Amino acid sequence: MTTPLDLFQSDRARAREAGDPMAAVCVLATVAEDGKPEARTLVLRQVEDDLALFMHESSPKWRQLQNGGSINTYWPSIELQYRMQFTTVPIDPSVVAASWQYRPETPKRMDWFYDLKQPQSTPIASREQLQLGLDELSLPEPVTAPATARGLLIKPTQLERLDLNELSGLHDRRRYSLVGTQWQEVVLVP
Ligand SMILES: Cc1cc2nc3c(=O)[nH]c(=O)nc-3n(C[C@H](O)[C@H](O)[C@H](O)COP(=O)(O)O)c2cc1C
Repeated sequence: MTTPLDLFQSDRARAREAGDPMAAVCVLATVAEDGKPEARTLVLRQVEDDLALFMHESSPKWRQLQNGGSINTYWPSIELQYRMQFTTVPIDPSVVAASWQYRPETPKRMDWFYDLKQPQSTPIASREQLQLGLDELSLPEPVTAPATARGLLIKPTQLERLDLNELSGLHDRRRYSLVGTQWQEVVLVP
């Protein structure tokens, strides 16, 4: 049976084939401790059959995600928007560590910087201070992933697809909700 997630995956594959740079990323929205919304771009990864996000545990979004989040994608090449609500499942640390090895040198060192110097998204006096702190890190060779490099599998509970391709200009908007193990579809006023 084709699920809305299969539809998302095949749409995303079409966007990728069309050379759409947005196919690689998503916007993740969360709610901060003070109740304000925060959104940022993240690479939307694939781990076997699941969508996945990778981040450092010191980042505010890691804590915020415990209270849920929302993912938005828009692929201009095929004029499709998705909005997604989801639950998360932590990715096995050995899988995170293996994929972490493919990170470029500086992001690898940054992950250790967050652990040994100061957390991601905190203020620092200057870029010089940042560079100095990074250079000062003495890391074992070969460098391995800190336990604080984390990954989350995304388990969608609700997907909304907005298709702007209708020639009439009357957009096609549908919401798919997971009820038990079944997906239910409703048409929404676009
Ligand atoms: C194209 C692009 C891809 C990004 N991918 C990631 C990512 O996969 N993981 C991540 O933690 N931050 C990623 N970032 C950086 C985030 O947008 C953000 O600046 C950072 O994670 C700090 O976010 P926070 O303070 O909301 O936690 C990416 C930024 C851009 C522009």
